[in-house]
Amino acid sequence: MFHYSQSDLYCEQTALADLAAHVGTPAYVYSSRAILENFNAYHDAFGDIPHRVCYAVKANSSLAVLGLLARAGAGFDIVSGGELFRVLKAGGDASRVVFSGVGKTADEVEYALEEGIHSFNCESEAELALIDAMASRRGVKAGFAIRVNPDVDPSTHPYIATGLSEHKFGIAISEAKAVYERAKTFSNLVAEGVSCHIGSQILDPSPILEAVDKILALAGSLRSEGHPIRHLDLGGGLGVAYHSGEKAPAIGAFIESLHARLRASGVCVMVEPGRSIVGPAGVLLTRVLYRKKSGDKEFVVVDAAMNDLIRPSLYRAHHEIIPLRKRDLPSITADVVGPVCETGDFLARDRHMANVLPGDFLAVCTAGAYGFVLSSNYNSRPRAPEVLVEGATYRVIRRREGFEDLIRGETLP
Ligand code: LLP
Repeated sequence: MFHYSQSDLYCEQTALADLAAHVGTPAYVYSSRAILENFNAYHDAFGDIPHRVCYAVKANSSLAVLGLLARAGAGFDIVSGGELFRVLKAGGDASRVVFSGVGKTADEVEYALEEGIHSFNCESEAELALIDAMASRRGVKAGFAIRVNPDVDPSTHPYIATGLSEHKFGIAISEAKAVYERAKTFSNLVAEGVSCHIGSQILDPSPILEAVDKILALAGSLRSEGHPIRHLDLGGGLGVAYHSGEKAPAIGAFIESLHARLRASGVCVMVEPGRSIVGPAGVLLTRVLYRKKSGDKEFVVVDAAMNDLIRPSLYRAHHEIIPLRKRDLPSITADVVGPVCETGDFLARDRHMANVLPGDFLAVCTAGAYGFVLSSNYNSRPRAPEVLVEGATYRVIRRREGFEDLIRGETLP
């Protein structure tokens, strides 16, 4: 969806240099067509297998993005009361919501029960007891799936691997059956499903297949013992290509490789993809402020910083950085850094990149997931606006913050 025509970078049919000149920088820009295509890649690949694609709200929770996906028929995977509030504001259907997370509070459980979400992905017996008690007080039944920790290594960044026994997530697969059995005594809970999520940014799907086999076996044996188990939640989606040379696993081919076993299971299959739906559909636009040299090192100082996109600083993540208007100049090797007062504030290090001049616009690619949502006001920097492109038109879906936004809610005693 992002492509050059002549020397100008476009998002769909919108020239990004024109957009940047109007909206200013830094700014997040998303392609609505790419978001829908990525969502439909999951949805279509399941074919006639009963399924629900529950978009992981944490990846990008802007109302307009959620609204787009709600209208396309998405369910939602939430991890907080705030995410449920957003989903409902965006027109999402509570009955298509699953609530994940290791630390749900009583208030959040109450809110989710009140709104009638589909089910809770539970991570401890204490949580099951809490949900049961609160459901009983309201006189309702609450659906749950136990998030099983299958003890497989997803080979991804250690901060976003979740499926090993050393991680805080889920209940060990060896103990899960006994927990489902004990949960039978909770009269306001219904064992709707089994869930798992082994990690994010997974480029080799084989560990996911290993986990799927393990939870399929568990689901089969639970059903034979009289637990309803009407769905299987396979967790987050596939990884995306952050490096220009990298190839992300194809969503369609991956889901199709699961068809035979999923069909045989006879249950509804859920997935909770976030990154692969919105990641490649977004860029962060920034403007070059200065070029400077220090010894042998060259720096490109831009107006976006770690508060706008923290992934490079936090995970050493790679994002391609390309010009909105190509110039016919030899490339350079430089660090791309922001104005924040920390050495850890960089968008790229020792990057072989286009030769840029002050005033030039750049796109930090594949920034639609875990970009804006992780942004902050650090250094009292107002947060960037978000823009949604549709063909040759675009809408500002979140305005740029101003100084007044920085002090909203504060008092001076
Ligand atoms: N479901 C659960 C229970 C999750 O914990 C996650 C992501 C997802 C679904 C969505 O996974 P995805 O399809 O996006 O891979 N901030 C990090 C990523 C954290 C992912 C946390 N959990 C980053 O910027 O790479």
